[in-house]
Formats: sequence, C-alpha cells, structure tokens
Amino acid sequence: MLNLICSSRQELSSDLLVLTFKSSTGQLPNWQAGQYFNFSTVINGQKVTRSYSVSNLHAQELEILVKVEGEFSQWLFKHCHPKQWIQAQGPLGDFGQALTQEPCLFIAGGVGLSPILSLLARRAEQGLISTDQLIISCQYLQQVPHLEQIQAWQQQGLKLSIHLSKQASKHHGRLQSSMIQTLCQGPQPQLLCCGPTGLMDEFKQAWLQAGKAPEHWHQETFKVQLQSEKPQQSLMIEFQGEFFSGNDAEILLDQIDQAGLYLSSSCRAGSCGSCRCKLIQGEVEAAQPFYALTEQEEHAGYILACCARPVTDLVIEAD
Ligand code: FES
Repeated sequence: MLNLICSSRQELSSDLLVLTFKSSTGQLPNWQAGQYFNFSTVINGQKVTRSYSVSNLHAQELEILVKVEGEFSQWLFKHCHPKQWIQAQGPLGDFGQALTQEPCLFIAGGVGLSPILSLLARRAEQGLISTDQLIISCQYLQQVPHLEQIQAWQQQGLKLSIHLSKQASKHHGRLQSSMIQTLCQGPQPQLLCCGPTGLMDEFKQAWLQAGKAPEHWHQETFKVQLQSEKPQQSLMIEFQGEFFSGNDAEILLDQIDQAGLYLSSSCRAGSCGSCRCKLIQGEVEAAQPFYALTEQEEHAGYILACCARPVTDLVIEAD
C-alpha cells in the first residue's frame, strides 16, 4: 500500500477536481499510460476504495481527475486539500496495451479524458500524435483539463473536436454514436474509448454495427487482473439456484456473465461492493483484496465476485 499526500488541488468546475499526490517516501512506482490506482480511505468508520486513472505520465506526482459522484469522490471533494493523507494501491490495468504504431481514435467522455491524457502524452513522446484523432465530450469547455497541452498537440497534427452539451461551440450538443461512420472513413484506427458506461456501450455497439473490427475496439475497465495463469479445471457453480459449468481459471463474475446469469456490478475492481455475494459452500481465492468488504463481512462468508477465482465447486447467492 502506498501512502500519498495531496500536493495540489484545482477545481475546474463545481463538480470537477484535479488532484495531485506525492509519495510520503518521495518515490512513486512507475506507471504506464492508461493505468489506474485504487485509492482508499475511511468514511464513517468503514474503509472505502475507488479506482482513479492517472492522467499524467512520468512525473514525481500522480494526477487524477475527480467528478463528484459517489461516496468516495464526494469525500475527496470535501476533504482532499493539500497535505491530506490517503492510501493507494497500484498501478493497475492494461488499457495502454492497445497502443501500437497504428493511428488511434480516442473518445473521451467527461473524466474519461483522464487515462487518455496520459496515452496522448505517450503518443507525443513517440512522435505519433499527428496520426491520431481526439474527440472530447463534456458539458463546458472549462471542464477540459490541460486544454493548452491538448491544443499544443493539435498544433503537432492531432485532429481535435470538443463537443460541449451545455455551451455554444462549433460542436454543440451531445456526441452521437451515429457519428462513428463519418469519424472512421479512412483506414480503420485503433479506437480507445473511456467515459460513462452508457457512452462506451453505445459507441461499441455503433462500432460493431458499422462493421468495424472488434479487435480494434478498446475501452477502459477497472477489471481485476489475474497475476497467474492456471491450467483450467472445470467445476460446478450454483448461483441463485441455477447450475452451470465453470472453471478455476477465470474470475467468478466473468463466469456468471458468460453463463447468461445476472449479478449486479459496477467497478469490477473490488471497490464499489455491487457484486457482493454470499459463499454458501466451496472455496474461492481472492485475486486481489476485497476492498469493499469489512473484515466482519469476510468472516461472515461474503465475497466480491469481480475479485474471486473459484477453487472448488461453489454454491453462491447474490446479496
Ligand atoms: S463490481 Fe465493484 S466490487 Fe465488484
């Protein structure tokens, strides 16, 4: 676990913050463009964890964008000022692995711009920024962090359009997924999308319906990554009274999804608690700590399906 101290805070609007943190030891781990950290604090006596993508690259400070929604972000907005301590774990995630030498189309909705800023910095370092296109969707221009840097990349050849839904501009109005056809008329770029789930789902559907290659579509998720590959053994899983054949190699939540069953989920990173369920029988391995559970909940047999890998046959119930 890293101990971080807030070094600066900038309010871009009444609900959007840019925060930077330093390590208490002076040494931050190396992160790659597109990665995220899990931040933790205690709110009302409960440990709460949330994932935030890093928006900068190669620095002595780690920068995140925070939109005021959800318990953790509201806490940051209220309490996180310079000198505030906070814990974090990471870096995590592999969104940046989608970058190749090929042209990229980046679509950023709101604070989804965060990992894309670090990816663009990497593209600029590699001299590839002139092959890329960036589409930003937000409410007001003031909500675009590092606008000067983005415009400097535009001077270097980055194609840029900013769609403002609550302010008159060249691209006024909500970004529409139907624009995907006109956006991708040349050779198919790699498309990297980050933003609200609804926006990513809508654009993914439009991308596939337009006949674009599924392997060129990449979206950011805070999905738990397994540290080790296991030879796959099949086993039986009973979930909500339904039986399906599972395995001991993949994350339980993915297996429930693949079986066509429904378990609520949101962060898929162990921090929101949406996928909490009760282990009635069997054993699972925690692929990463169950951040959203208290010790008492874990002792009572609760697990987070997005972080659990089955070890034996299982009987589980949604919370
Ligand atoms: S989906 Fe958020 S904790 Fe599992």
